[in-house]
Amino acid sequence: MTKDKSPSQSDRNLALELVRVTEAAALAASVWIGRGDKNSADGAAVGAMRRAFNAVAIDGLVVIGEGEMDEAPMLFIGERVGAGGPAMDIAVDPLEGTVIAAKGAPNAIAVIALAEHGNFLHAPDIYMDKIAVGPGLPAGVVSLEASIGENLRNLALAKKCDIADLMVCTLDRDRHAEIIAQCREAGARITLIGDGDVSGVIAVSQPDAGIDLYIGSGGAPEGVLAAAALRCIGGQMQGRLLYEDDAQIERARGMGIADPHRIYALEDMARGNVMFAATGVTTGPMLRGVRRSGIGAITHSTVMRSQSGTVRYIEAHHNFETKGWIAS
Ligand code: FBP
Repeated sequence: MTKDKSPSQSDRNLALELVRVTEAAALAASVWIGRGDKNSADGAAVGAMRRAFNAVAIDGLVVIGEGEMDEAPMLFIGERVGAGGPAMDIAVDPLEGTVIAAKGAPNAIAVIALAEHGNFLHAPDIYMDKIAVGPGLPAGVVSLEASIGENLRNLALAKKCDIADLMVCTLDRDRHAEIIAQCREAGARITLIGDGDVSGVIAVSQPDAGIDLYIGSGGAPEGVLAAAALRCIGGQMQGRLLYEDDAQIERARGMGIADPHRIYALEDMARGNVMFAATGVTTGPMLRGVRRSGIGAITHSTVMRSQSGTVRYIEAHHNFETKGWIAS
């Protein structure tokens, strides 16, 4: 009898290992919830996530991370992490929603996605136009090339409902004034979120969240993370990089982006077998936030694999007295 694990068995184990990494980041960030210091919250999450990777059996390469090597001390793009094992590319956001966490507002999460080498879009840290809908709809039902009105009409037709029944989600930003006005003019309802468009995009694939369409611009790295999640739970998404100047176009080209104005589909941003894990820092529609007591904490996480399409929710009760470390 061989002791070798089949690739899918080791993938399954690896997916569960990833939750420990997002749990560590969320626990560390939770110390800073509502304390008005987004940098300390982020720094704590980054440090804890970086340390937790030391126990994961991969040869990991950070492709979506905290920034370039000269601007981020840990989890920078190109950093190698893990204890050794299969070569994997890693996309991380140790604290998605730094401002939310600092305010103690809903929906901050710690996030990781993993894929075999070469399968994530190497998105520079610039904006990306995003549009996303949930599973079970005709391919191409919405598109970045269509007008807001056209997208809403097509979506309502596909969902056999009125435009007035549709709920759109977007970041509450001045740059979205035109999107918001056009949605309202067409008769749709809107949920404006303060931050956290990874959760915003994922919400389209969660029936309980009541979101039919995500639209608007946000971070391109966050776009790749959201795409990784939708690859696992289903749904459609398009992304298009947005540039403020020629220097950003050059930066994108330097990261291997041949056509800077290309519209990316889900599979162009996250290909192959993808794993995604997230732990709630503050409570949102997908995950409950960290609940701390004197000697421990309870975390709520999700882990997903595109290969099986299984979505797990994990509630972990951490005992700081026996665990040997305190997340701060
Ligand atoms: P941080 O966690 O880095 O603070 O990002 C939060 C976020 O809301 C992302 O979810 C989103 O993609 C991006 O910021 C939007 O950027 P901006 O705040 O500039 O509109």
